[in-house]
Amino acid sequence: MTSPSSSSDTPPADPCLMLLFGASGDLTKRLLTPALLNLVCDGLLPDEFAIMGMAMDDMDDASFRAKLENEIRTYSTRTHFEPERWEWLKQRIHYMPGNFGKKEDFTALLARCNELDVKFQLKGNLLVYLAISPTLINLVTSQLDDAGFKERQGWLRIIVEKPFGTDLQSARMLSQQLLTRWREKQIYRIDHYLGKETVQNLISFRFANGIFEPLWNKNHIDHIQFSVLETVGAEGRGGYYDKSGVVRDMIQNHMFQMLAYLCMEPPASFDPDAVRNEKGKLVQALRVVRFDEVPEYGVHAQYAPGKKADGSNAIAYRSEPQVDPQSRTETYAAMKLHIDNWRWEGVPIYLRSGKALWKRGTEIVVQFKKAPQVIFRNTPSARLIDNNQLIFHIQPDQAVEFRVQAKKPGPNLVLQKVDMRFDYSEAFEAGRATGYEVLLYSAMLGDTTLFSRSDFVEASWQVVQPFLDYWKAAPASEMPTYPAGSWGPSEAYDMLERDGRRWHEVVNRDVLARVPDLAGAPSTFLHSLALMLEPNAVGPGDTIIHKGDMGTEMFYICRGEVEILDGKNQPVARLGEGSSFGEVGLLLDMPRTATVRAIGNCDLFILRRESFRRALKDYPELHTILLERANKRAGLS
Ligand code: BG6
Repeated sequence: MTSPSSSSDTPPADPCLMLLFGASGDLTKRLLTPALLNLVCDGLLPDEFAIMGMAMDDMDDASFRAKLENEIRTYSTRTHFEPERWEWLKQRIHYMPGNFGKKEDFTALLARCNELDVKFQLKGNLLVYLAISPTLINLVTSQLDDAGFKERQGWLRIIVEKPFGTDLQSARMLSQQLLTRWREKQIYRIDHYLGKETVQNLISFRFANGIFEPLWNKNHIDHIQFSVLETVGAEGRGGYYDKSGVVRDMIQNHMFQMLAYLCMEPPASFDPDAVRNEKGKLVQALRVVRFDEVPEYGVHAQYAPGKKADGSNAIAYRSEPQVDPQSRTETYAAMKLHIDNWRWEGVPIYLRSGKALWKRGTEIVVQFKKAPQVIFRNTPSARLIDNNQLIFHIQPDQAVEFRVQAKKPGPNLVLQKVDMRFDYSEAFEAGRATGYEVLLYSAMLGDTTLFSRSDFVEASWQVVQPFLDYWKAAPASEMPTYPAGSWGPSEAYDMLERDGRRWHEVVNRDVLARVPDLAGAPSTFLHSLALMLEPNAVGPGDTIIHKGDMGTEMFYICRGEVEILDGKNQPVARLGEGSSFGEVGLLLDMPRTATVRAIGNCDLFILRRESFRRALKDYPELHTILLERANKRAGLS
């Protein structure tokens, strides 16, 4: 095996033993082992490196290696699997079963760690990784201390997986417990969102481009939205999730990290503490709402039966394995936050996250204030001036987009929304990583920048605590539901509507590719269409189009159902998510052939004729598809 090679600006990590608790679990196979393999392939692990795993399962070095070997083929993120690199790593993997409550198991563990230390010349350095339940953290770290791990020479660092505590009180208690035996400098509270390139780029983007800082405040920004939407439900993790819910699982940690990066003051340097001081100050400036204010500032909900992305049936959250059939755990939450400091006074920050939703996407939308419209009066664009938006596509799209108005070529002053976009895949060659690579590498080098300090963690619990308390105390009838596979509860849309705003649905190519009409469309078309669609929400019973009216737009249904009414206002058909209607208006200069009414709350995308004509050059087939449908429907009505 070739020994890893590295470059001078990214030297290999320090020699060390990685001591992994919870080694037989999901995290190891899905993320940690693939991340370690990526580090090997990038030459970032030194020759003096070894892994020692411990968990309850009865395995030895050979069977643990065989298990990981089996799994790495599934979970590796490499385009080409390099067997010799894996072999290098495999030879460094070790395991012993252990009961975390047994002192003697830790004594035996210490002896094995010391052996490996000599064999691999690890200099006594120890990176402890706690991939275990928060309730076991104090036990395991106390056992390590009691067994004498502190007396070894070399550094000792402890990575603690999220969630750090389960509420404010338990987080404080856990910090206190850890800090009675270890120093804050030794505790690495990990959050894998900070390992994502697109999240790290938030800081680079803000502070390496001088044009944004002068605009980054209440004078120019109307509001900011953070969305972390997932299509997966509880899926096999019901036992954990039912005790957690989306606030503890996503908002208090992953989303607050992104919020801090986006809104904090510029640090004086990129020293770990300079960055962490600013993050801490930002979260401390978040307003803590009163218990009775929660209904105004937050929405929680749980998914009911619905449809998965592939059209198959999805069960309700309460029917998921290991979930309490009476569970009141929220699988969706939306919040409105305020940052009470000079920069952000009066700028609402909206957050939403949920499982079992229609699309997967993590996006941040910074919405700027509108340009004055008055100078465009008496032009065809008077009504069309929109806010500029800076959109950070975190995943699965990885891009930064700036939406501006441009003059459409032609004799009149007609404005059109266009975007300037930087796409990671076009600009860089780096392959997709798990996000854990940089975190492990930083921890091995003692760089704490990407890890949270207790001030950040405690302040973020403080902000979410009233929401958790209120929702826990609220009667079951106050927990709205949303169908699995939908855009979430209408209450979350109402929350923004009360402020005269709406959630920005980032329509990416993945989302559009799921609309049956667009299944075969080229990506250039999907890209331009994504910019052209206008989101619109309607309520139960609202008439969307009237038979006989002239119209120049068609509608795609993203959420909810509509009914088609005949001339006597009798329902003749229903259309659901993914369907479209109103093609006649888009294609032909003739009146609408039917009335369409919303059955429940519906989210619609509107495609206007002029946008459609422009987009068609990339996908002329859509014209034929829609025309055939329009003819068929006109014949039916
Ligand atoms: C984890 C949560 O921390 O993050 C999961 O426990 C969630 O519930 C996951 O699905 C999302 O991570 P990513 O990287 O897919 O956005």
